[in-house]
Amino acid sequence: MNNLPYSEKVMDHFTNPRNVGEIPDASGVGTVGNPICGDVMKMFIKIDNGIIVDAKFKTFGCGAAVATSSMVTEMVKGKSIEEALKISNKAVAEALGGLPPIKMHCSVLAEEALRSALADYYKKIGKEPPFTITEHKHEHGH
Ligand code: FES
Repeated sequence: MNNLPYSEKVMDHFTNPRNVGEIPDASGVGTVGNPICGDVMKMFIKIDNGIIVDAKFKTFGCGAAVATSSMVTEMVKGKSIEEALKISNKAVAEALGGLPPIKMHCSVLAEEALRSALADYYKKIGKEPPFTITEHKHEHGH
């Protein structure tokens, strides 16, 4: 146990983030900003035969954003696009052992960066993405 509001897994992925960097010949790149805090995340994915074979990210953001991007890039590797689209920000937060409620919006950034990178991939291959990119809704009252 630690006495921080973050799980050991969050601390681990924050201090030792996986998959930081860029993929020069990425199949899709997505950049999203979090309107709540102004943090920015860029995600790169490499797709081969419908399977995500590599994922990397760069985040100009808080610790929870770094940890969730790190986790989501780990989670999508080896998955099909359909499977990757099913990864919700809640699943990412759960995989990290939970996030404080006030930091849940940070995990939304990771989910949206992934979807945005996938949308970019569809654009590059000249197809309509079979999903919609959700616009950020401001959540009040938390
Ligand atoms: Fe901005 Fe976490 S505070 S993503």
